[in-house]
Amino acid sequence: MTHPEFLDALVCPTTHTALTIADDGKSLTSQDGVTYEVGDTGIVNMLYPKELLPGDAHEQYLYDQAFLRYDRGVSWVFETLDHSDEAATRQFMISLMDLKPGMTALEVGAGTGKDSALILEKVKPGGTAVLSDLSPNMLKLAQDKLNTAEVNVHYFLGNGSYLPFKDDTFDAVFHFGGINTFSERKKAFDELTRVVRPGGKVVVGDESIAPWMRSQPTYQTLLKANPLFRAEVPMEDVPANVENFKLHYIFGNAFYVMEYTVRENAPEIDIDLPIPGKDFVDNWRLRAEKANDTMSESENE
Ligand SMILES: C[S@@+](CC[C@H](N)C(=O)[O-])C[C@H]1O[C@@H](n2cnc3c(N)ncnc32)[C@H](O)[C@@H]1O
Repeated sequence: MTHPEFLDALVCPTTHTALTIADDGKSLTSQDGVTYEVGDTGIVNMLYPKELLPGDAHEQYLYDQAFLRYDRGVSWVFETLDHSDEAATRQFMISLMDLKPGMTALEVGAGTGKDSALILEKVKPGGTAVLSDLSPNMLKLAQDKLNTAEVNVHYFLGNGSYLPFKDDTFDAVFHFGGINTFSERKKAFDELTRVVRPGGKVVVGDESIAPWMRSQPTYQTLLKANPLFRAEVPMEDVPANVENFKLHYIFGNAFYVMEYTVRENAPEIDIDLPIPGKDFVDNWRLRAEKANDTMSESENE
């Protein structure tokens, strides 16, 4: 995907309708008159809403301040967690995307590009990586660092809960490290899934200490020191149209990473299929109705 093709692929982050590209290629305008600017280094500002919700604005501010310290700080975190091999764990997470040369991948919350570098390696030669973040400073650092030989790389500033792409645009999508604090987390899961083609992969991870470790003294210290470790794995946010869901604990069982394959539709449950070989009709619907009757009988007692 070339830069003009990338601009062409961008749509309105809420209605997913086409944008009009200015003749000089420096801005895109939606049907309702909202303009998105293309920066000097090619990073397109697709942030939505224009005035971020307070939690997202706060995260953007924090990362914009911390971008120069970020790489060192995050490596220290992983060193404290079971002396984890950060590079090997990041390789493991990216391997879950099942990327192949020539594929098209999206990363949301790419930060300074630590995982992006591995995504680029997987899709080259000839593939495309689209990298995005909420923080201009983090994403600019990623752009400065990454080696883009033999691969197409495009950047946009974006909110993971409002992705500016049509359905089924990507072979795989990746996010690591920020979703705990997204103001609209459920919407982000819907968006990450929507833009992946059926059969493609979604891989998402963040802090969450495994339940069986939470009573250990050193983990209790972590839980006190950083409330983000108390987050639960957001299983309830996973959309219905997925299969082969797997959950892994990584970095000393203090982070999770989930992977799933996108399906065209949600699984179908046939609640009316009769159980064979019975001399009366029996199926899930009748069993549920019977359970209801039994419940209301016991409530009336
Ligand atoms: C802990 S960093 C992780 C960066 C990178 N994925 C890594 O593993 O090093 C979290 C990143 O998520 C970004 N972020 C936070 N909220 C976001 C949102 N609503 N949409 C997109 N990115 C967001 C932050 O700007 C930050 O760069």
